[in-house]
Amino acid sequence: MRSLKDLDVKGRRVLVRLDLNVPLTEDGRVGDDTRIRAGIPTVRFVSERGGRVILLSHLGRPEGRPDPRLSLKPVAARLSEILGRPVPLAAGIVGDDVRQAIDGMGDGDFLLLENLRFHPGEKAGADDFIEELSSLGDLYINDAFGTCHRSDASVAGLPRKLPSAAGLLVEKELSTLDRLLRDPSRPFVGVLGGAKITDKLPVVRNLLPISDRLLIGGGMAYTFLLARGDSIGASLADRELLDLARSLLKDGGDKILLPQDHLVLTKDGEVKSVEEVPEGAKAYDIGPGTREAFAEALGSARTVVWNGPMGVFETEPFDQGTRAVADVIAGLDGALSVVGGGETIAAISGMGREKSFTHVSTGGGAFIEYVSGKTLPGVQALESGPKD
Ligand code: 3PG
Repeated sequence: MRSLKDLDVKGRRVLVRLDLNVPLTEDGRVGDDTRIRAGIPTVRFVSERGGRVILLSHLGRPEGRPDPRLSLKPVAARLSEILGRPVPLAAGIVGDDVRQAIDGMGDGDFLLLENLRFHPGEKAGADDFIEELSSLGDLYINDAFGTCHRSDASVAGLPRKLPSAAGLLVEKELSTLDRLLRDPSRPFVGVLGGAKITDKLPVVRNLLPISDRLLIGGGMAYTFLLARGDSIGASLADRELLDLARSLLKDGGDKILLPQDHLVLTKDGEVKSVEEVPEGAKAYDIGPGTREAFAEALGSARTVVWNGPMGVFETEPFDQGTRAVADVIAGLDGALSVVGGGETIAAISGMGREKSFTHVSTGGGAFIEYVSGKTLPGVQALESGPKD
């Protein structure tokens, strides 16, 4: 895959795909600008070298129709504040007005096209849309790691048409994740949690052979505990996945560490720390013994990958497991620590801990799919498209 540093961008129209899919506040302002900031180094790099920076992104899921509530206008305003330069928002995505705006750009200027998903061709990966979009630029850069698992026109289609390269963020995300997956310093410990077990089982399957320990907490742990024959009371479990969970437990042998105690909410609304979940009670967090066991397993780790909270961290006292895991990983000296997934990142930023990890991925679904060992369509397209 070619790097942005290998492209001569001077005087060229450079289509830069970012993931500017940020949360908006009720009054339509940017709620969290982490993803906007993550794309800035690439945007600056191109502009400082005289490229004409045409920014592309989606926002939300408008289903192929313009929706004023999902306009990129607030994002253009935030970009312009961060860059200290005007970042006009084009009147649309393709068409004469957009073309005119691009013709009027000078070297180093910026223009943000409107939300790509206002056009049905974006999600459909439609050839005519790819053709039209590609005619707006001379070069293409993908710095939208968070969207690389999608086959959208601007992600998987454009690099088939234009000489392309990975942006600085995509390069960093991939090199960090590759180091972790291909050549981890040992012990390598994976920590998985969260409730959505369907997405996580492929991660378990991929990490089992390459990790030394796999700690499983959060809602997903209860499907494994039930598969092992433990009583889980009224805790969340996916009964259709029991066989799969059983076979992973068999393959995992001693590598997989499951919760040995739990914080539960009983039928009567009491919070209790228990070793066995009583009938009718629901587990909402790992218990103190598990916190200790997980801390011990993580203590000597040289590489850690973490996805998914250990409990319902938004509601005290069920934040303790997630907090304990964050504290231990943050305190590891000299280890490579990688965190990904929207909920996990929300948890660590709520604790003010983002800076304590080696790498906080900007990808949610993209991160999970990459760590599952899947090929991301956006990455594959960059590898196989034209080089000149
Ligand atoms: C994300 O937030 O995960 C990416 O921006 C992709 O968005 P999507 O799930 O709507 O495709």
